[in-house]
Amino acid sequence: MEKHNGGERCENIYLPQVAVIKEIIEETRNIKRFILQYEDKSLHEEYKRDGQFFEITVFGVGEIAISIPYSPSRKDSFEFCIKKTGKVTNAIHNMKVGDKVGLRGPFGKGFPYEEFKKRDVLIIGSGVGLAPVRPMILRILENREEFGKVVIIGSALTYEDLIYKEDLISWSKVEDVEILYALNKPTSKVAAHAGYINDLLTDLELDWSNSSAIICASPRRIKAISKDLLKQGMKGTDIYTSLETHMRCGIGKCGHCKVGSKYMCVDGPVFNYEEMLELPPEF
Ligand SMILES: Cc1cc2nc3c(=O)[nH]c(=O)nc-3n(C[C@H](O)[C@H](O)[C@H](O)COP(=O)(O)OP(=O)(O)OC[C@H]3O[C@@H](n4cnc5c(N)ncnc54)[C@H](O)[C@@H]3O)c2cc1C
Ligand code: FES
Repeated sequence: MEKHNGGERCENIYLPQVAVIKEIIEETRNIKRFILQYEDKSLHEEYKRDGQFFEITVFGVGEIAISIPYSPSRKDSFEFCIKKTGKVTNAIHNMKVGDKVGLRGPFGKGFPYEEFKKRDVLIIGSGVGLAPVRPMILRILENREEFGKVVIIGSALTYEDLIYKEDLISWSKVEDVEILYALNKPTSKVAAHAGYINDLLTDLELDWSNSSAIICASPRRIKAISKDLLKQGMKGTDIYTSLETHMRCGIGKCGHCKVGSKYMCVDGPVFNYEEMLELPPEF
C-alpha cells in the first residue's frame, strides 16, 4: 500500500497482470494447454503454489476462472488447460503465441496436501477435470515416499479426449503408482476399461480406511463415485472435489458465486463430500 495525497491508496485487486502466451499445445479437439508467462517475469518468484484458480482476462472479451495446473518443470510460467465452451474460452482458443492476456490470482482454497500424507491416495479426473488435480499429482509424486499407494484414474469419452496423455504414461512408470483409464469407447492405445469409473473401484487394492480421494468430474458423477467409495469404507470427509460455478471477482466481494451459505471462490472451490452434500442439489 502506498501513501497518496495524505491518504492510503490501495493496490487495485481487480487489475490483472499482463501475461504473454509462450506456447499452445492442442490437448484434444476442444481443449488447449496454454503456457503463460508474466510480462514482468519476477512475479513468478512470488508465486507460492497456493490457491486453486486464476482469473484469466481476454482483453475486450471477458474474464474466466481457470484451475492452476502448476508444473514443477516450468517455474517461470503457468500452464492452463482450457476447454472451449463459450465466449471467453472461444476467444482464447483463437489466440496465438505472443498474444497477451491478463492474470489475477491465485484464488480459492486448494486441496489439503498435508492431510494426504501417510495415506493411500486415489485421484480421479474426468475430461478437463484432470487439470485441477494435476498439481496435487505432481506434488505427491515429487514426495512419493511420504504417501502410500497412489492410484490415478483418467476418464473421457475417447482416448483422444483425454488431456495429459503423456503425463499419464510417464506417471504409470513411477513405483507403486497405478494408472487406470475409464473411457466410453474402447481404444487400442492403452489398456482401458470401456465403461464407468465406478466399475474399477471394487478391484482397487487400497487401504480404504486410511485412504484419501480427489474426484474432479460432473457433480452427478462425483456423487455416484463417492457413494461407492463410502461403501468401500471411506469417510465423506476424506473425499475431495473442486467444484465449478459462475465466478466474477474471485475474492468474496461480488456475491456472484454464492451457493447456499458458501462463497465458492473463498470457501471453495475445493470441498469434501460431506460439505458438498450441504450445497444445493445442482452440486
Ligand atoms: C474454480 C474454477 C476452475 C475452473 N477451471 C477450469 C479449467 O481448468 N479449465 C476449463 O476449461 N474450465 C475451467 N473452469 C470453467 C470455466 O471457468 C468456464 O468454462 C468459463 O468460465 C466459460 O466461459 P465462456 O465465456 O467461454 O462461456 P460462457 O459463454 O460464459 O458460457 C458457455 C456455457 O458454459 C456455462 N458456464 C460458463 N461458466 C461456467 C462455470 N464456471 N461453471 C459451469 N458452467 C459454466 C454457461 O452457463 C453456458 O452454458 C473453471 C471454473 C471454476 C469456477
Ligand atoms: S466470485 Fe465474487 S464473491 Fe465469489
